[in-house]
Amino acid sequence: MKLLYLTGFLGIALATTSCAQTTLKEAFKNDFLIGAALSPAQFCESNQVEAALVKAQFNSISPENILKWEVIHPEPGKYDFALADRYVEFGVTNQLAIIGHNLIWHSQTPDWVFRDAKSNYVDRDTLLARMREHIFAVAGRYQGKIIGWDVVNEALADNGTLRDSPWRKIIGDDYIAKAFEFAHEADPQAELYYNDFSLENEPKQAGAVALIKNLQAAGVKICGVGLQGHYSLEKPTLQKIDKAIATFAKLGLKVMVTELDVNVLPSPGHALSAEVSERYRMSAGLNPYTNGLPADVQQQLAQRYADLFSVFLKHRGSISRVTFWGVTDGNSWLNDWPVQGRTNYPLLFNRESKPKPAFDAVLKTALGKTAIKLSAGESALAR
Ligand code: XIL
Repeated sequence: MKLLYLTGFLGIALATTSCAQTTLKEAFKNDFLIGAALSPAQFCESNQVEAALVKAQFNSISPENILKWEVIHPEPGKYDFALADRYVEFGVTNQLAIIGHNLIWHSQTPDWVFRDAKSNYVDRDTLLARMREHIFAVAGRYQGKIIGWDVVNEALADNGTLRDSPWRKIIGDDYIAKAFEFAHEADPQAELYYNDFSLENEPKQAGAVALIKNLQAAGVKICGVGLQGHYSLEKPTLQKIDKAIATFAKLGLKVMVTELDVNVLPSPGHALSAEVSERYRMSAGLNPYTNGLPADVQQQLAQRYADLFSVFLKHRGSISRVTFWGVTDGNSWLNDWPVQGRTNYPLLFNRESKPKPAFDAVLKTALGKTAIKLSAGESALAR
């Protein structure tokens, strides 16, 4: 009994020591890049604590919002590169793999992009010219610094058909191929990615596979696919994630988990998704953890992260990067989406920038010390 207690104690002490001494980027250095999406306070270093945390833990960065069309190109002919330049400078100074997110998306794109002076939709050629000009201005400016671009974001609907966005309505289905061609012309060295959520779901996954095969058959350069990775404690299952990664890797693409977070709050009735246009009103029961996360949910979150990273490590030959969508719980978009003003806990660092049990669980998984028990069906997926 005494001996058991001692061994258990030593085990915990050892695990704690080894975790405290390593960092995410160090733990996964032979596996994949570890990234985070940054806000201006982090890359301009007005929040010094979070900036220091980024430098210590991550070796890749994505911009949460500042490269999106509405920020960088708010009006016709008017570009505002101020924040983007700071973002890129932060990455260059700290030798981080800098990601561009994103060039073409239906959301956070001003309406003027699609309209003429009379507010009618422009024609195909006009929109193609605007697309080309934007991609050349933005991707061209950061040539040699931004290593990879989410060229097209979220082009698919849940059923796997193309989302009927203004891009598609005006240009036609080939707007995606055109965006990739322009990006390749603007920066021939950059890696080019297709990025979307819910690619673990069968119909959407099939749609993405068809889309990518078409691009490849047409000789369009596409290097990788981003599984956004906006997950919950239960969904998608590890099996679905495992299959999605294997399916896209088989196409010869790099696979990336580009926007990882784990939502711990009750869902207001929608299927698991990251559809930014979905909005729900706050109501009783939707914001249960305003005074902290209960220990059992904290443990569930740690287990979920350990399980997810076991699957990612299994595919470390195909996965080139895992990026968290935010640095600390306090700056996660999940505090305000799909319900405004909640207190969520989706990341590895808490509101004080301190590592959570989920952080230790991820490191232990990396070190092959999966102290956290995987359930029978799921352990088959572990390394
Ligand atoms: C989100 C940002 O995190 C929010 O700050 C913003 O208000 C809306 O967009 N899929 C994507 C990301 O590709 O760009 C989205 O980011 C989250 C869903």
